[in-house]
Amino acid sequence: MSARGEQRLRTGHPWIYRADVADVDASGGDIVEVIGPRRRTLGHALFSDRSQIPLRMLTRGDAPFEPAMLRARLERAIRFRDSLNLDATAYRVVHGEADLLPSLVVDRYGSYLVVQALSQGMDRLLPSVIGWLSELLSPDGILARNDPKVRTLEGLEQTVEVLAGTIPDSVVVREGPIEYDVDLRKGQKTGLFLDQRENREAAARYAHGRLLDGFSYHGGFALRLAGQCTAAEAIDISADAVARITSNATRNRVGNLTAREANVFDELRRLEKAGERYDTIVLDPPAFAKNKASVPNALAGYKEINLRALRLLAPGGYLVSCSCSYNVNEEMFAEMVHEASIDSHTPLTIVEKRMQGRDHPVLVGAPETHYLKCFILRRVE
Ligand SMILES: C[S@@+](CC[C@H](N)C(=O)[O-])C[C@H]1O[C@@H](n2cnc3c(N)ncnc32)[C@H](O)[C@@H]1O
Repeated sequence: MSARGEQRLRTGHPWIYRADVADVDASGGDIVEVIGPRRRTLGHALFSDRSQIPLRMLTRGDAPFEPAMLRARLERAIRFRDSLNLDATAYRVVHGEADLLPSLVVDRYGSYLVVQALSQGMDRLLPSVIGWLSELLSPDGILARNDPKVRTLEGLEQTVEVLAGTIPDSVVVREGPIEYDVDLRKGQKTGLFLDQRENREAAARYAHGRLLDGFSYHGGFALRLAGQCTAAEAIDISADAVARITSNATRNRVGNLTAREANVFDELRRLEKAGERYDTIVLDPPAFAKNKASVPNALAGYKEINLRALRLLAPGGYLVSCSCSYNVNEEMFAEMVHEASIDSHTPLTIVEKRMQGRDHPVLVGAPETHYLKCFILRRVE
């Protein structure tokens, strides 16, 4: 590997890019010894022969690699989540790089687990991982949601398959006071947006009056906040998501929530023209910036929805504004909010700056693991 690659490892980053890999004597999916420019062993890594990230570090230094280390890391990840005493039956058990298990995701939905192996190396390790998870957690079923597009960058198939036990068509989980009916095979991500759990709780500290939940998916924010609001409206472009919001509202006896299928960009414009006002608005769009090149367009998109939402917001109202694009960092997001506040002539305060929940921790030195921003903003007057 190049000197630049070695330097990158020193910063704590677990990925080495293709340009920094000199000679390769390995096949895709192998666990390899990584040798530095001065012939020193720098550690062991998962190797991919297709990805722009051919090396994902598993260990550092010259100690030999033992598979038992991975089992121990799984065990530690499970113990850490147990220690959080989360008031939920669905949460992330393994958050890839942050648990030193690169490119592995394990989410728990009650007595079921959903896994994702997002690199060639982790894909090859999956049978061992399933065995260890079965021993450690005794789940009723394990589903591989190996359908994310990033798998194609690794030359891997996009598949959804049951790897252990059985997986029912619908699983009921609880997050605080709210129950969700989840389709683990077809829902977005692994079924729910588990990373927003603590932000939904935080938003509940401020929500009041008339609520608009934009990009609502299964209604996570709307369902949690509706009880303290006079009326709640949820908007999503997906018909399936809207049907789920309605059935989840019935399940939770939330009577003041209506959901509609629409494009939030169009809907914000229409509501503004109609002179509507809201006291609480949530914006939780999908990642607009999938890569660095799309950042300028993404920022324009974030600014447009935030600007329009601010025009709909009543004085004393709250805007819960989120971005899950890791290419748009917190500083860029804050700058976009600043511009939206200036252009809409809205005096704004930042009440809370938040990120993904504690079960999705950030690995220091790997900024990509800090992907979710959630600002709770208050229109002062
Ligand atoms: C990050 S998720 C929202 C998660 C949700 N807030 C939660 O807490 O579960 C983004 C959602 O936006 C929806 N979406 C994408 N583009 C949209 C658009 N232009 N208008 C409305 N909804 C859109 C997707 O269907 C998806 O459900």
